[in-house]
Amino acid sequence: MKKDVVCGLGEIGMPILELISKSAEAVGYDINPRLSNEKKLADLDSIHTELLHVCIPYSEKFERNVLSLVSKFKPDAIVIHSTIKPGTTEKLQKKLTIPVIYSATRGIHKRMIDDLKRYQKFYSVYNWVQKSDWAKKIFVNRMKKAGVKTKIMSNPLALELAKIIVDTSYYGWLINYAQLSNMIAIKHKVDYDEMWSYADEIHKYLGNRPKMFPGFIGGHCVIPNLDLMDGDALKIIREINLDYAKILKKRRSLGKKY
Ligand SMILES: NC(=O)c1ccc[n+]([C@@H]2O[C@H](COP(=O)([O-])OP(=O)(O)OC[C@H]3O[C@@H](n4cnc5c(N)ncnc54)[C@H](O)[C@@H]3O)[C@@H](O)[C@H]2O)c1
Repeated sequence: MKKDVVCGLGEIGMPILELISKSAEAVGYDINPRLSNEKKLADLDSIHTELLHVCIPYSEKFERNVLSLVSKFKPDAIVIHSTIKPGTTEKLQKKLTIPVIYSATRGIHKRMIDDLKRYQKFYSVYNWVQKSDWAKKIFVNRMKKAGVKTKIMSNPLALELAKIIVDTSYYGWLINYAQLSNMIAIKHKVDYDEMWSYADEIHKYLGNRPKMFPGFIGGHCVIPNLDLMDGDALKIIREINLDYAKILKKRRSLGKKY
């Protein structure tokens, strides 16, 4: 029996399993046995894994973990949905003969199913890999049947970088500007919202002056994803956020929102 296996049943893995299950036989696996579908996984030899969907968090052990999942499930192809260090797809691909598709995930966990259907799911696979056309076709078909639109990128590295540089870090950078502008507003005792009202019409007509909420950047995407990039260029986002946290703490003790 052909099946897809979704590995890592957390905030993105569970919704991805739910969506894929609508159109294909799919089974979930997690190192936490309480989350795994132990019954369906009991007889591994009877499962022919077509796509192995990787939804585990990135760590130093990521490549090793993926390779061991490949040995366990022997899939025809892999799809990585996690946010990963740029270059990881190529490194894995060079160690494997089956196609490795990278397909970054967009959305927030509270409404992940809706977000997965709302945004095109970008994907990419190195075109020098045997059976890459076959893998693309299977993946696109799987997503289409699950109600998810897809869009290809010319190579996985562009998509690995895009997920961080123009998604999470860019969002952090915009919030940084709100933080910096609020630090200046506080220093000069002017109202943040009033100051920013100057940009409203420009943003309305040109779309290039977004006003962000000057809060603290928390959560487990924007700041942790900075560590996936080599070099110091983006580290400033974390530094500004930490400086701003001190100011925010003082402001909150005075009963101010920000
Ligand atoms: N949560 C989001 O909103 C979101 C959005 C976009 C991208 N992402 C990315 O998706 C990836 C997963 O994030 P998440 O929020 O779903 O994580 P999570 O912590 O909610 O879930 C991860 C799951 O993977 C399991 N796991 C870890 N190692 C495993 C292994 N070797 N084999 C099998 N299972 C394993 C864990 O037990 C856990 O259940 C990350 O790279 C994250 O950056 C998350």
